[in-house]
Amino acid sequence: MSAPSLVVLTGAGVSADSGVDTFRTAGGLWDRYDWREVATPEGFAADPGKVHAFYNERRRALPGVRPNAAHAALAELEARLEANGGRLTLVTQNVDDLHERAGSRRVLHVHGELAKAACVACGTVSVWTADLGTEIPCPSCGVAGAMRPHVVWFGEMPRHLDEAEAALGEADLFVSIGTSGSVYPAAGLVAAARARGVDCTELNLEPSANARLFTEARYGRAAEIVPAFAKEMTW
Ligand code: OAD
Repeated sequence: MSAPSLVVLTGAGVSADSGVDTFRTAGGLWDRYDWREVATPEGFAADPGKVHAFYNERRRALPGVRPNAAHAALAELEARLEANGGRLTLVTQNVDDLHERAGSRRVLHVHGELAKAACVACGTVSVWTADLGTEIPCPSCGVAGAMRPHVVWFGEMPRHLDEAEAALGEADLFVSIGTSGSVYPAAGLVAAARARGVDCTELNLEPSANARLFTEARYGRAAEIVPAFAKEMTW
């Protein structure tokens, strides 16, 4: 019997055990910052310096954080499934690169990536590890002042949704890890999976906004419950 195909959705909770800030938990980013100011096109138009400063701080923190046992377990599970004729498609809302650094290969960043920048003048997306600022020229077209973080803001279209939907069409199991289930369209993947008759498992610190839609749930820290879940995956 060949291995199953999984679609795994991850959110900030999978990186929490690495020391990366979450958004909606007490003391989280949206307690400390107004998302309208730092995570919308309107906020960027009003004060690009403030928005750059917000993402520069997050980008600077990346080299200092390490993938945790949850990231590692998902990468190992992907390799094990692929080696046995299955597949694991990771749909992440996270802008960090911890899944890739743990070894995951099939990763869809639906909310973009901190370590990339886009030029709104020429459309080029570049790998970016330094700070961004209002005067920085695009390395491709040379226009200054047109660079923005390659992240998706509220009011913008998330990326790779077609690929996520296609993977769901072939999935045997949908697993949601460390997400509040409150930001759509990613939060709608569980309903889409259920509509296709796919079993759905939630792994989270606490029940998410969509908890009732899951066919199975386990609650605890991602670094503990994700490796345990992955270990039990046999077919
Ligand atoms: P949230 O901060 O909204 O939710 C994090 C979830 O992870 C919560 O349900 C927590 O209970 C859970 N959690 C916290 N610590 C955990 C741990 N150690 N182990 C397991 N679970 C834990 O983050 P997201 O749902 O990912 O978008 O947020 C979704 C989107 O909202 C983000 O991508 C971002 C944000 O605004 C944009 O900026 C566009």
